[in-house]
Amino acid sequence: MTRLDRVEQTTRGRFTGPPLTPRTAVIWSVLAAELDRRAGDELTVLDVGGGTGGFAVPLAQAGHRVTVVDASPDALAALTRRAAEAGVAGRVRAVQGDGDALAGLVAPASADLVLCHSVLEVVDDPTPVVTALAAALRPGGAASVLVAGRAAAVLARAMNGHLDVAAALAAAPDGSAGPRDTLRRRFDADGAAALLRAAGLTVEEIHGVRVLADLLPAAVADGQPGALVELERALAARLPYRDLAAQLHLFARRPA
Ligand SMILES: C[S@@+](CC[C@H](N)C(=O)[O-])C[C@H]1O[C@@H](n2cnc3c(N)ncnc32)[C@H](O)[C@@H]1O
Repeated sequence: MTRLDRVEQTTRGRFTGPPLTPRTAVIWSVLAAELDRRAGDELTVLDVGGGTGGFAVPLAQAGHRVTVVDASPDALAALTRRAAEAGVAGRVRAVQGDGDALAGLVAPASADLVLCHSVLEVVDDPTPVVTALAAALRPGGAASVLVAGRAAAVLARAMNGHLDVAAALAAAPDGSAGPRDTLRRRFDADGAAALLRAAGLTVEEIHGVRVLADLLPAAVADGQPGALVELERALAARLPYRDLAAQLHLFARRPA
């Protein structure tokens, strides 16, 4: 039984996260398996670049304590409002700070679960962020890391007719299309896994997120949301689909 199979049971059972969408279903599925493994424990969660709390608040609602470190005061203000509205203000701590300086913001070996979603592609240098998030994990703790996928970006540029940008992006070592690109880098599965391994983490699983969601006409995606979620879950771990996804999700662990 794969982790996703296990999680389908879990998400139907104990863990009642937010409604699953094509953007989040695979990630919540992987996280739910870890929450199920630790059922009954109040986990200490660190969400690096957690923004407005799309993951932090549901995790707090599930009974865990979540610290969100984010560079944006506006995002943290929205997080605080959202946590209050959800009745979990006491379980969510907002810390303004830079992921690059994480080591000075959180105690080492203090987190059971660290999230770092859609952040490594925008920071100055992903290596110190990953090193710091690995150091923040207790031995045996898990990391959920979501990064922008390079192949999907090349295909998207080409399909929109920007063949020159697609070619530049495919050739650039960092997977960025240059100074006008909104992202500083993009990853393939091997590169992202190597980054986590270099920080001492063991990569347990890699899934593609949004394999199809961004490619479909809106009428199809909006008209058949349940079917799309199921198809995303079915393709997420399978090659070659995984590596063509808009984002890659890596689930890693600090060795016990
Ligand atoms: C694309 S959003 C992702 C938010 C959230 N993790 C999610 O998946 O919904 C990126 C977030 O990272 C934050 N961020 C960007 N650079 C950062 C840095 N160097 N240190 C900490 N947070 C940063 C931004 O303020 C923003 O909230």
